[in-house]
Amino acid sequence: MSVALAFDIYGTLIDPHGVVGELQKHVGEQAPEFSRTWREKQLEYTWRRGLMGRYADFGVCTAQALDYADTLLATGLADDVKASLLQAYRVLPAFDDVAASMQALRATGCKLYPFSNGTEDMVDAVLSHAGIAEYFEPVISVDTLRTFKPDPRVYRYVVDVTGVEPDNCWLVSSNPFDVIGAVSAGINAAWLQRSAAAVFDPWEIRPTAVIGGLAELPALLNQTS
Ligand code: LAC
Repeated sequence: MSVALAFDIYGTLIDPHGVVGELQKHVGEQAPEFSRTWREKQLEYTWRRGLMGRYADFGVCTAQALDYADTLLATGLADDVKASLLQAYRVLPAFDDVAASMQALRATGCKLYPFSNGTEDMVDAVLSHAGIAEYFEPVISVDTLRTFKPDPRVYRYVVDVTGVEPDNCWLVSSNPFDVIGAVSAGINAAWLQRSAAAVFDPWEIRPTAVIGGLAELPALLNQTS
């Protein structure tokens, strides 16, 4: 039986707060708050643009969220510093458990797809830099549909691209809104709870499974197949 796993990128395979070290050089101890604000606004902008039907790609959402964080926190970043931070976003680090877990999953015969709000170019860059591109099939980007997660069309698109039955299609994501979107659209979704403090939205829609690390995936797929 062929199983396809679609991995969210930022927060799941790649650490969006991996830019804190670079930020510290420019905003000092405000770096963690800056990084949080930047990430929250970046996602908010995707949701708002999706609802409004005013698509601009994830690179634009990321750059505009950076401008917002800079203004809100009065950090006065120069244009060249902003450009260097956006460059740092293209070379964010992978989480420690990614390479070994992807290798183990590949050995089970599953197909692994990067699936992101990020454009193909952004995702290719970050996966290559992290040295994990070799484990994956070509990127599935929402950019093709010019909308964002959690528009149900993006999850149906994953089913189309992977060519498996929805029952054999999994999203793996640390982002609760993404997990809820996938389950609501009719595919399986594993919520990766990367920290004990992470809270799942108390909605009527629950994850198909909850995992504490990517290394748990082979056993989970074994149980559910
Ligand atoms: C992504 C965002 C949701 O990679 O983190 O799609």
